Amino acid sequence: MHHFVYRGGILHAEDVPIPQIAEAVGTPFYCYSTATLTRHYKVFSDALNGLDATICFAVKANANLAVIRTLVSLGAGCDVVSGGELRLALKAGVAPEKIVFSGVGKTADELQFAIDNNVGQINVESEPELELLSKLATAANKRVRIALRVNPDVNTGGHDKITTGRKEDKFGIEWTLAPKLYRKAHKLPGIEASAVAVHIGSQITDLAPFETAFTRVRDLVLMLRNDGIAISHLDLGGGLGVPYDHSSNVLPPSPAAYGEMVKRTVGGLGCKLAFEPGRLLVGNAGVLVSRVIFIKEGTTKRFTIVDAGMNDLIRPAMYDAVHEILPIVEGRGDALATDVVGPVCETSDRFAQGVDLPNLKADDLVAFMTAGAYGAAMSSTYNARALVPEVLVNGAEFAVVRRRPSFEEMTALEQLPVWLD
Ligand code: LLP
Repeated sequence: MHHFVYRGGILHAEDVPIPQIAEAVGTPFYCYSTATLTRHYKVFSDALNGLDATICFAVKANANLAVIRTLVSLGAGCDVVSGGELRLALKAGVAPEKIVFSGVGKTADELQFAIDNNVGQINVESEPELELLSKLATAANKRVRIALRVNPDVNTGGHDKITTGRKEDKFGIEWTLAPKLYRKAHKLPGIEASAVAVHIGSQITDLAPFETAFTRVRDLVLMLRNDGIAISHLDLGGGLGVPYDHSSNVLPPSPAAYGEMVKRTVGGLGCKLAFEPGRLLVGNAGVLVSRVIFIKEGTTKRFTIVDAGMNDLIRPAMYDAVHEILPIVEGRGDALATDVVGPVCETSDRFAQGVDLPNLKADDLVAFMTAGAYGAAMSSTYNARALVPEVLVNGAEFAVVRRRPSFEEMTALEQLPVWLD
């Protein structure tokens, strides 16, 4: 459920008519809803009721400071995967002990920064990383809580590019190799090996792979405890899918069903739990608003050319993702089949093929729905297009939380070498 609804035939973000924002900031722009962020956080935390759980928002899904801060103010921690994300989380005001630092290739500088800032947990993904972390922590005279991120070798059945928990994927430590590395970690100075982490992929629409993975984690915890390694924390990752395509009958499981499965698999271990949802919290809480530039009629196709491009929302081009497209002014005229494309000079700059949309014309506004996760966060300036503004709505108020840069700002980091000056 989200708070982008038609009122009087006009799509609103909470109480704000979207054309009013378009007038103020120009198009394209991302628009986020505070009420939706709040609702999703609450639905997920309610699903975990009875468990000792921290929800660490996966900042990679939406790195806007105002979005992070909204979730942090509700009680969220953060899951970060780079020094930059760690700085963002700290800047958004999250308590360092509620930060989990994940990622397969953390540099010594990033690890050092995390140690200096006393992050709650570092999820280690390889033996050399473990050794480096032990060295750095010892030198800093600190003891760092680590999890080994185990790779449970399960296939989520989701898109190949966002599946992470098969043994041929680069992520984590194969679960069969994990006990040996835990024994090593247990003896290393500066390391408190008291946690296990797992994350098997994203946009997962079936509980079964989670259940297999969490059962493997439970078995591992029991085995480690048997070996005298006290595991007190589990990090169960993110990955729960959200509905994108309302014409499809593949619906993700509810957070409540997910919570029940967590209780069933690892609830009895007496561990403190962390979760790293990204998409679930922010996906439905954001839309990308764009304006029609031209309608081009061909002999076999009708192209609706909009001012947002693949650089602003890359998911359709990269993962064949489907984002529902809604006209901002509801249902004018008969529906016509059209391809919706952007202005970028790539054939893959296409948001939809042959979708039925009302008879749109130049200057009409459309919204790409469910664009709050991995939308702005993955955008680029390809084709020298400026990053688009981000707007946060809260009831009847809205604020630009990231403005559109000027051309001078976009080129400010470049300089000509002396021989070209
Ligand atoms: N934790 C870790 C270690 C992750 O790698 C990820 C996502 C998450 C948590 C959050 O997963 P979520 O709850 O959002 O599914 N760009 C792709 C998704 C890539 C996901 C990468 N890792 C997309 O647009 O579909």
